[in-house]
Amino acid sequence: MSHQTPNASESQPRIETPSASSVIEIQGLAKRYDSGFEALKRVDLEIQRGEIFALLGPNGAGKTTLISIICGLVNPTEGRVLIDGHDNVIDYRAARAKIGLVPQELTSDAFETVWNTVSFSRGLFGHKAKRSHIEDVLKSLSLWEKRKNKLITLSGGMKRRVLIAKALAHEPEILFLDEPTAGVDVELRRDMWEVVRKLRERGVTIILTTHYIEEAEEMADRIGVINRGEIVLVREKAALMRQLGSKQLTLQLHKPLASVPPALSHYPLSLADNGSVLVYTYDASETSETRVSISTLLNDIEATGIQFKDLQTKQSSLEEIFVDLVKER
Ligand SMILES: Nc1ncnc2c1ncn2[C@@H]1O[C@H](COP(=O)(O)OP(=O)(O)O)[C@@H](O)[C@H]1O
Ligand SMILES: [Mg+2]
Repeated sequence: MSHQTPNASESQPRIETPSASSVIEIQGLAKRYDSGFEALKRVDLEIQRGEIFALLGPNGAGKTTLISIICGLVNPTEGRVLIDGHDNVIDYRAARAKIGLVPQELTSDAFETVWNTVSFSRGLFGHKAKRSHIEDVLKSLSLWEKRKNKLITLSGGMKRRVLIAKALAHEPEILFLDEPTAGVDVELRRDMWEVVRKLRERGVTIILTTHYIEEAEEMADRIGVINRGEIVLVREKAALMRQLGSKQLTLQLHKPLASVPPALSHYPLSLADNGSVLVYTYDASETSETRVSISTLLNDIEATGIQFKDLQTKQSSLEEIFVDLVKER
């Protein structure tokens, strides 16, 4: 796969023609709320057709703002969004027709039935009624038995299922899920992932926001990390996971070093904590034949006269990378 990964630090010229593989193009998107707060700072991002993209970020990072602008619910201060080539402001009807949104907040027409709510939502997009589709959607979300119930009689979890059904009523090509599993029970979470996987098999593009690392890790093809209105990383999950396969051996030294001795320069070694800690980073997935043995390394270190008090190994995790990315800069 040849994914283009937008990266603020790369200043390659942008090609203006929409690429065949990207279904959403976000260009220079900025949002300043009336309060003066800058919720998004010139975000560039491309979503590939058919992928599951997880937008991962802490509360207040700008996830809902970004999704709301893409879906045409909030106006950007700067920048534009193309949905399958359609500008979502100039050509909003065509853009909106392709999108389904499961919002973070529960909103519902309390006295309407499940069936009517979901069917009506399809009608809003100018689609002809299609009972079989509504039936499939309700069944896939375990809402079939409740189709005649008024929304007001449903539990919070059931109402959330209705929100998903509403978003799927007009058979969107792109589905947004804003914090879909925040505060939902295990059963709904499982059903939700099942529905998402089936949609993806049918070629639907899925963008979900989350502040749960495990969710991004489990579901996504690519992960984008957002913090304080900026996308700070976009990577394929597989590549991220390979990077996470790296392990570190740390040695607490008796005496701090000013630099790594030349005799050890062929090892990937670095100093930390003012030279009092020597860090060796290696790929945990390498086989024992290709990997330098730790005992050889330790012998070589001792041969240079370096003494250490203690040593530890640790494996990096997505959690660590995430915490590192979003910590106060
Ligand atoms: N209507 C608004 N007016 C002013 N500030 C807002 C408004 N909506 C959101 N914000 C602020 O913008 C920031 C990003 O919010 P949001 O996009 O909801 O973040 P997230 O979904 O990642 O938690 C937050 O600091 C939030 O308080
Ligand atoms: Mg949010």
